[in-house]
Amino acid sequence: MSTYTAHFRVWRGDTDGGDLRDYQVEVNDGEVVLDIVHRLQATQTPDLAVRWNCKAGKCGSCSAEVNGRPRLMCMTRMSVFSREETVTITPMRAFPVVRDLVTDVSFNYRKAREVPAFVPPEGVAAGEYRMQQVDVERSQEFRKCIECFLCQDTCHVVRDHEENKAAFAGPRFLMRIAELDMHPLDAAADQGLVRAASAQEDHGLGFCNITKCCTEVCPEHIHITDNALIPLKERAVDRKYDPLVWLGSRIRRR
Ligand code: SF4
Ligand code: F3S
Ligand code: FES
Repeated sequence: MSTYTAHFRVWRGDTDGGDLRDYQVEVNDGEVVLDIVHRLQATQTPDLAVRWNCKAGKCGSCSAEVNGRPRLMCMTRMSVFSREETVTITPMRAFPVVRDLVTDVSFNYRKAREVPAFVPPEGVAAGEYRMQQVDVERSQEFRKCIECFLCQDTCHVVRDHEENKAAFAGPRFLMRIAELDMHPLDAAADQGLVRAASAQEDHGLGFCNITKCCTEVCPEHIHITDNALIPLKERAVDRKYDPLVWLGSRIRRR
């Protein structure tokens, strides 16, 4: 096994501010960035704050920015960097820092609560729901989400624009609305909730100009933009400009 000494630069601080600190730390073959952060805690900086749980890319806890790119630290192999390269780790930029690499991601939980839940169809008992396999597969792609919030962190609409946060759900939650809007059994429309229109009017879908940065950083390789956001935009526009839909909504209002 080969071992070398890497140069790490880690953001240290809290809500009052902070700065980057330099560390020399041992790296072994096959290790990931989170291993090195743990070695730093064990040998040099026992008070370094970092959030993690599974170390397997499944809990979504260890999100941070490594050399400026939003990544899961447990899934970022040290072999992607050259041995001479300085590896800089900073907390996710779109969310307020709690301490060191830990951020307050409660913005995302607030946004999750703003999306109305699945509305079961009337007259169909639980256990008797039936769907085409193609519809199951469409939802399943979105259900792979591990809620790491890297997509939320990278989206330029909120990344440097705190002022947009109130009006914009972010890619993760627009994807959730798309999933429900495409769900053949969701009966929200019967209760007057047209999800695609609501995405546009209430959750800021119009802010998204399909830059696809969210898709690029998703560790689950979900096609957020192509399979959720663009179809949701199309559905919102279809509803707005389709004369039959427009007529139907006028008749229903009477
Ligand atoms: Fe993370 Fe992808 Fe889910 Fe966004 S969609 S929270 S990047 S797993
Ligand atoms: Fe943002 Fe993704 Fe749209 S990065 S602009 S939500 S395509
Ligand atoms: Fe669970 Fe990294 S520790 S995703």
